[in-house]
Amino acid sequence: MRRNKALLLTLLPGLALAIELVQPNIGDGKLLYEESCMRCHDDPYLSNGLDEMTNTTELFYMVTACSRHFDLDWNKQDITDTTYYMNIKFFQLDE
Ligand code: HEC
Repeated sequence: MRRNKALLLTLLPGLALAIELVQPNIGDGKLLYEESCMRCHDDPYLSNGLDEMTNTTELFYMVTACSRHFDLDWNKQDITDTTYYMNIKFFQLDE
C-alpha cells in the first residue's frame, strides 16, 4: 500500500502532462464510468466526500486515485476518457 502511494506521487506530474497529449474518447469514458464508477458515484454523479473539484487537473487526479485505489489497472487513455466524460456530463469545469 505504501509503495503504491509513493508510485502514485511519482507518476502524478507525468499524468498531468499526459492529459494534454492523449485525445479523449467520450464514448469510452462513458462505458468505463458505468462499468467501474457508477455503483458508488451514481448518475447523476454523487460526490462521496471531496466535493471540491475546481478544475480538470484536480478531477483527473481524483479519477486516477479512485481507479488505482480499486486496482482497475487503467492506463492514461482510460483515465483521460473518464475525466473528459465526467467533466462534460457532470462537472462542466472550464480548465
Ligand atoms: C467502492 C466505491 C467507489 C468506487 C467504485 C469509486 N469511487 Fe470515487 N470515491 C469514493 C469515495 C469514498 C470518495 C471520497 C474519498 C475521500 O473523501 O477521500 C471518492 C471520491 C472520488 C472523487 C473526488 C470527488 C468526490 O466525489 O469526493 C472522484 C472525482 C471520484 N471518486 C471518481 C471516481 C471514478 C472515476 C471512479 C471509477 C474509476 C470511482 N471514483 C470509483 C468511492 C468510490
